[in-house]
Amino acid sequence: MDILKISNLHVSVENKEILKNVTLTLKSNETVAFLGPNGHGKSTLLQALMGNPRYQITKGEVYLNEENLLAMSVDQRAKAGLFLGMQYPSEVSGVVNADFLRAALNVRREKPLSLFEFYTLLNQSYQKMKMPFELANRFLNEGFSGGEKKRNEILQMTLLNPKFVMLDEIDSGLDIDAMNIVAEVIKEEQAKGRGFLIVSHYARLYNMIHLNKAIVMVNGKVVVEGGQEIIKKIDETGYEWIKTELGIEIEKEDTSMNEISLGFCAAKDIARDDK
Ligand SMILES: Nc1ncnc2c1ncn2[C@@H]1O[C@H](COP(=O)(O)OP(=O)(O)O)[C@@H](O)[C@H]1O
Ligand SMILES: [Mg+2]
Repeated sequence: MDILKISNLHVSVENKEILKNVTLTLKSNETVAFLGPNGHGKSTLLQALMGNPRYQITKGEVYLNEENLLAMSVDQRAKAGLFLGMQYPSEVSGVVNADFLRAALNVRREKPLSLFEFYTLLNQSYQKMKMPFELANRFLNEGFSGGEKKRNEILQMTLLNPKFVMLDEIDSGLDIDAMNIVAEVIKEEQAKGRGFLIVSHYARLYNMIHLNKAIVMVNGKVVVEGGQEIIKKIDETGYEWIKTELGIEIEKEDTSMNEISLGFCAAKDIARDDK
């Protein structure tokens, strides 16, 4: 079993402290549901763990087994077994999807895959994700629908065999068929012993997979740890109980800093994407 241990982590973005003392241990055979109101630091934690340079670690430690994750570059983290399925996957013009995947696979191998081996593998992955194979020959995510981008992230995950998978609102933009496919693939990967940290606002995805734990982040801190009952409660009643039961004031999202967040309602994503 592999362990990702986050201790007293503080993270700032543009000199504003977003994460305040996050302590969390992930195990490679466990799946953790990661909830919380928008703008409270969920993506910040995932990006900081992956090594996005915009997110400055000001305090704390992260260890992947015996290794100091924070001392590693992004590609070293990826090779060490970390994977991030992004909330907003970037379009990379000029980089062909298949070339990108092949390069990512081959840096993990002593002997590169032959073109035939690679295309066989790729073809299987596209079939499993029920995605048209022609997407493999397009530029990475360019002109992909929201749902195709999200499925492409999952496809990358299945090819790269990570130890820990972080999925950031992977279900936004997915119609119900795509959601079923993604849930099936997550379950297959769970059975292989991968650890998952899954951000979603909805019980629907969580109910389709196996969960070990749910955590809730408010004001840049993990304020609740529990089980499936937490997801049910949030799905039915929102986050008001955090204030009424725990006495924690939910600070408002600073929208002035947040150009990329589309607001609270991920239904907007569903309406916009995958059409
Ligand atoms: N790249 C960034 N540039 C500026 N501000 C950011 C950036 N990423 C996150 N933030 C700010 O950090 C806070 C937490 O955002 P985020 O981690 O995206 O929240 P969540 O994923 O929980 O919705 C917000 O106030 C957001 O505006
Ligand atoms: Mg987010």
